[in-house]
Amino acid sequence: MTRLAFFGFLITFIPQVMSQSPLIVAHRGYSHLAPENSLSAFERAIEIGAPFLELDVQRSANGTPIVIHDESLERTTSCSELGRTDGYTDQELQSVRIGYPSKFGLDFQHESLPTLSQALELAKGRIGVCVEIKVAGIESAIIADIAKWNMEKEVVIFSFLPEVLRSIHSLAPDLKLLFLKSKARSEDLNECLALHATALGVGGKTQLDHAFLKEAAEKNIEIWRWTVDDVREMQRLKSLGIHAIITNRPDLGLTLHLE
Ligand code: G3P
Ligand code: CA
Repeated sequence: MTRLAFFGFLITFIPQVMSQSPLIVAHRGYSHLAPENSLSAFERAIEIGAPFLELDVQRSANGTPIVIHDESLERTTSCSELGRTDGYTDQELQSVRIGYPSKFGLDFQHESLPTLSQALELAKGRIGVCVEIKVAGIESAIIADIAKWNMEKEVVIFSFLPEVLRSIHSLAPDLKLLFLKSKARSEDLNECLALHATALGVGGKTQLDHAFLKEAAEKNIEIWRWTVDDVREMQRLKSLGIHAIITNRPDLGLTLHLE
């Protein structure tokens, strides 16, 4: 490469690379604008150009991975079904509507409860997907869904549950893993290494400072922070050099790339 071509490369590509940092992850989709964990929230995250969305996975009675945060259906559903998600088969769950009426009124009254497979199909080739596994026992089914859509390189597996990450690693060692901790400490970085997780997702109770991020970098562990919707806090995290910000307001997060 000539010197001129090299400088051309730097001018063209370095700003693009820099502008992607930190990575912005739409928490439960663009959940500020549409019901959390709905296909509408995922579509809106794609529309504004978020590089990743995050979703939560529970299970149906017959072991199908279902996209919903809570164990129970009450909070976000707008129909008469009550009780636990795993109390119904995937066939029965098809009629559940997740318009989150206490937050969005009737605006999304026809929104259906997605399976993981449906969410992956929508995302494929358009946005990366952080799959947070809320319960143990469906790891094989989740890996099968990812394989069905050939999305091994487009997903990151999240979990608070070490046994889930161990199971995923033993079944699909090439999948990227992120270990979640509400109040992360130095020893959790070592737990990441033991779990083959290359990222630690930390909650708001974590003391995030230069020393913690330096130690993580020395151990080659990315730090992802959830859930940050305040722009000033996003800017502080960016200046610390955090890898990713998980937010209900990906619109605000993406403005960091313009600074
Ligand atoms: O991305 C991590 C975060 O989603 C974990 O907390 O309760 O929102 O699933 P929660
Ligand atoms: Ca989650």
